[in-house]
Amino acid sequence: MQNWSPSTWRERPIVQQPEYPDRAALDTVESTLSQYPPLVFAGEIRSLKEELAAVSRGDGFLLQGGDCAESFAEFNANKIKDTFQLLLQMAIVLTFAGSCPVVKVGRMAGQFAKPRSAGTETIDGIELPSYRGDIVNGIDFTAEARTPDPQRLLAAYHQASATLNLLRAFAGGGLADLHQVHKWNLGFVAQSPAHEKYEHLASQIDQTLAFMKACGLNPDNTPQLKETAFFTSHEALLLNYEQALTRRDSLTGGWYDCSAHMLWIGDRTRQPDHAHVEFLRGVCNPVGIKVGPSTDADDLKRLLDTLNPANEPGRITLIARMGAEKITEKLPPLVRAVQAMGANVVWSSDPMHGNTIKASNGYKTRNVNAILHEMKGFFEVHQAEGSYAGGVHFEMTGNEVTECIGGAYQVTEETLADRYDTHCDPRLNADQSLELAFMIADTLKSARSQR
Ligand code: PEP
Ligand code: CO
Repeated sequence: MQNWSPSTWRERPIVQQPEYPDRAALDTVESTLSQYPPLVFAGEIRSLKEELAAVSRGDGFLLQGGDCAESFAEFNANKIKDTFQLLLQMAIVLTFAGSCPVVKVGRMAGQFAKPRSAGTETIDGIELPSYRGDIVNGIDFTAEARTPDPQRLLAAYHQASATLNLLRAFAGGGLADLHQVHKWNLGFVAQSPAHEKYEHLASQIDQTLAFMKACGLNPDNTPQLKETAFFTSHEALLLNYEQALTRRDSLTGGWYDCSAHMLWIGDRTRQPDHAHVEFLRGVCNPVGIKVGPSTDADDLKRLLDTLNPANEPGRITLIARMGAEKITEKLPPLVRAVQAMGANVVWSSDPMHGNTIKASNGYKTRNVNAILHEMKGFFEVHQAEGSYAGGVHFEMTGNEVTECIGGAYQVTEETLADRYDTHCDPRLNADQSLELAFMIADTLKSARSQR
């Protein structure tokens, strides 16, 4: 990698950053973090890249999801378990109903930093810095909470570390055992249609497992039946944190950002000559690029040339987030540009960030119908262009929140207030997520049968 080191981003323009009043304290924290053990390992990152390379060839599907923003206050084992199990449920639906291997990536164990539409927020004539996520400052509207505090980088590291510890135990220690698929459903609203559909699917899986057992395939000789690979990801926004966790791999000599397996660049920080692209250019991790409605084909080409000059499969995931009304107009030229370049990418759909609206009672929300509409548009465009729609990216939680409106178990504008817990954007709840997974499985199955 030419003219790159983990710190060359510091010479570039940068947006969406906090202003730390105490630079010396930040320096101390960065040097402490740079001595701490990596959170993930280069070999795991390479495994994810191989799995994503398969997806880019059409041999798999990427399921990426989790909180918009993880928080320090809501940090407990149940919350991690619920989201992990929901992701597994969705993956099971896609694998079984969609007949497709699924790559599972959580927006977990590091998704703490948030880009904001404005640098400050004014309430009753008082102006304070915007909340930028728990890794930067506190959400309360007081001068003290909103002042960026470097100690939060250390708290984020420790929370990510404990979260990963649990995720690893869940993935390898029995919770992901396919013989348990019925049990993953326990916490759900009993009568929801998605729940019933899932129960039906779980029974089919039980039958299949019984058949496999009779054929001699069991968890002892087929570990895939009792464990799974689960990866982590977050937006690489606070580069002080990302740089401090970047390590040189002794095996290959390559640089890896060991804060997560996959990192992505947000729609607001994807300027090709700016700091975020510069930083991610030099690390070997799989990199996501959010592709919003303002992206044109030339921007995209430049980003692909800069971030993946060798056209390595599995390196780049393009995450389209156009909005339900714009997807069929904005996406085709970009798909064609990627095809014309012969670029190896995974195309994924984030049907959340282009569909945020304000309810009449002031809540920031999203309509499940708009989310569905954007996803359908995404699949249709790829079908029409002869390209492969390879993944989805959701903001979702295993908890029964009421943040997005619609879905079979109707959340309305009036009921948003019941359990509106998010620290940033509205998330799909468990039933809404599962419903979408069934819809994707149907689409995937018919798209794959036509190949
Ligand atoms: C996000 O994924 O939380 C986010 C801020 O997305 P985007 O950069 O696409 O707006
Ligand atoms: Co968000």
